[in-house]
Amino acid sequence: MKKNLSFGEIDELVVKLSKYLKSGDVISLEGDLGTGKTTIVQKISKELGIKENIKSPTFNYVLEYNSGKFPLYHFDVYRISDPMEIYEIGYEDYIYGEGVTIIEWGNIIETELPKEYIKILLEYTGEESRNIEVRVEGNRERERELLKNVGFSN
Ligand SMILES: Nc1ncnc2c1ncn2[C@@H]1O[C@H](COP(=O)(O)OP(=O)(O)OP(=O)(O)O)[C@@H](O)[C@H]1O
Ligand SMILES: [Mg+2]
Repeated sequence: MKKNLSFGEIDELVVKLSKYLKSGDVISLEGDLGTGKTTIVQKISKELGIKENIKSPTFNYVLEYNSGKFPLYHFDVYRISDPMEIYEIGYEDYIYGEGVTIIEWGNIIETELPKEYIKILLEYTGEESRNIEVRVEGNRERERELLKNVGFSN
């Protein structure tokens, strides 16, 4: 299901979602430039109790934060030319690791995403609003449960 939410409502949704994240979760953030992917990572990192500020992982595509409830592995694969490049930086150790992996532009490496992952789709609808859709690919049961828990279902 897709909803049009204000920035404030998206922030509230992300705060709730953060409470249901588990060790090993992978989140793919998908949406055009400037739709709010990094903002979501910042919000989740705060909710996980990470002290550092989130920076853009331009070099090597990934930055790791270890001061929170779980390690956070923040990828941004916008500039990758071949999805296979991701393996050179230990991609599998991250996605099958103890932390939560969040991948900006995950759609670019869609073929390499794990069987189960949380997909968040963003679309620009206005200066301070976005269409947002949350799915759990590969696990419809968890999707139903998660959407119910965060108050996103009808
Ligand atoms: N939830 C939000 N609350 C407040 N501002 C937001 C929110 N989402 C997006 N913005 C605004 O949009 C701008 C771009 O957001 P952000 O950098 O998160 O986008 P992005 O999808 O990561 O972009 P890119 O594709 O370039 O990485 C932010 O600087 C901020 O002004
Ligand atoms: Mg970004």
